[in-house]
Amino acid sequence: MQELAYTLLTRHREITTPRTFQLLGMEWDLLPGVYAPHLSQSSALYAEWLPYPVHGSFCEVGSGTGYISVLAALRGCASVTALDISEAAVENTRRNAERHRVDSVVRVARGDMFEPLTGEDRFDVIYWNSNFVEGEPADALERAFFDPGYAAHAAFFRGASAHLEPGGRLLLGFTDLGDERRVHALAAEHGWRPALLRAAKCGTENGHIEYRLLEFTQAG
Ligand SMILES: C[S@@+](CC[C@H](N)C(=O)[O-])C[C@H]1O[C@@H](n2cnc3c(N)ncnc32)[C@H](O)[C@@H]1O
Repeated sequence: MQELAYTLLTRHREITTPRTFQLLGMEWDLLPGVYAPHLSQSSALYAEWLPYPVHGSFCEVGSGTGYISVLAALRGCASVTALDISEAAVENTRRNAERHRVDSVVRVARGDMFEPLTGEDRFDVIYWNSNFVEGEPADALERAFFDPGYAAHAAFFRGASAHLEPGGRLLLGFTDLGDERRVHALAAEHGWRPALLRAAKCGTENGHIEYRLLEFTQAG
């Protein structure tokens, strides 16, 4: 299974200079070392599946190129916060927000999970298309694929409730290349109960991947 993740990683390693790509009929900036959404069929799926609260607030953790954050702004969210641990991803998200003229709506910050936020930052939707494979990343690009000990997933579940509005929604993009049972167990430790919102199995040159949009609600 993890071979599929390594194949995708190898395709990312071939990107060594800034370039642009097409996705959803739009042009986007891509910096080397940043997760490239046009290389995965999941990107168009998540763009279509996600709820964008019109006049509301949207937070994307691990924004990468920022294409979802930009879409959230273009689809009517009043405020969008894009967070990423990678310096290149933060710069990439800024560039795409500027390219699509939503930089006044999209706030971008660098840090580990919710670290850049204050206690006053609360959102109607928090979303993360996560680095779904448990493993040790060798560099910033690999951190888009591997989460050591699922520590970032644990931080996501630990920190989310402090940043959700009442009735706010917590969403995670995941795949069957990851260990979903372990993620459910981590969620449960912090009082979250999972539900599968959408799923699609997609063919690749090396096999199939199932992309899964999960929603977590507070148990009890
Ligand atoms: C699978 S990529 C998704 C990128 C983008 N959201 C997309 O869908 O194209 C996961 C992203 O999470 C970021 N990330 C990984 N661990 C993180 C952490 N602890 N805190 C914040 N961002 C993190 C990575 O840098 C990467 O940009």
